[in-house]
Amino acid sequence: MNHTWNKYKYILNDEFMQLIFIKASDVLRESGEHMIDIHSHIIFGIDDGPSNIEQSVEMVGKAEKAGVRTIVATPHSHDKLFGSDRIFENYQEILYRIRDFGVTLKLGYEVFIHPAVSGMVKASRGLTLDSGSCLLFEVPFNCTLAEGYSIILNFHLESITPIIAHLERNRNFLKNNKDIGKYVKAGCMIQIDMASIIGVYGRGVKDFAKILLKYGLVSFVASNAHCAEDYEKWYLAAYREVVKWIGEESANRLFLGNAESILNKEAIIQAV
Ligand SMILES: [Fe+2]
Repeated sequence: MNHTWNKYKYILNDEFMQLIFIKASDVLRESGEHMIDIHSHIIFGIDDGPSNIEQSVEMVGKAEKAGVRTIVATPHSHDKLFGSDRIFENYQEILYRIRDFGVTLKLGYEVFIHPAVSGMVKASRGLTLDSGSCLLFEVPFNCTLAEGYSIILNFHLESITPIIAHLERNRNFLKNNKDIGKYVKAGCMIQIDMASIIGVYGRGVKDFAKILLKYGLVSFVASNAHCAEDYEKWYLAAYREVVKWIGEESANRLFLGNAESILNKEAIIQAV
């Protein structure tokens, strides 16, 4: 996407050649090109995502049509599902069915944290995105921000970088937004949902998402898709909205560049 164009624009000085690449870049942008989605409930029969293999395959197809080329499957994970064989078996079944698709599927989890969950931090080692060092987790509403913060500090002791899933939908953060900087300074990254950007959760959540983006506090925008229709209706619309809010270069970092970095096990630019 944009990084490809940047590579060429410094190599090519010829005006005509630059025009060709600008046009190609525009076409790719319109088609979505090469997004990486780090949060998707695409594995059937596990959580509130698809209930059968056909629905999972349909989700992959719609994601591909929206321009997504890599999806990290992130089934909800709590005590009962840690290391569940069923997740891995269903994931393997999807991999086989989509072998001819233009989408790469990887495995991670969306971890539901709570201070009362014993061994959470150690157990989280096996739940990171694509077995890397980043863990996607959700701070539940009944978990105070102080409790969440102490858990984050413990993740660091295990060399895990925490990514807070859809922070914009957590009313504790909305009410105590000064604490967000504290989390980010502690090395926490923030992911927001495409549906929040479109306004599916109401004006308040949309405005909060916009503020987080404009202040450069967000590292990823992801689908958090639970069905094929989610990708079809919201993914590209969210991308276009984010481009309007913060510009194409920053939007590309949040829909592709930062995700690419963590999947390549590289450091990312923390803020926009
Ligand atoms: Fe989710």
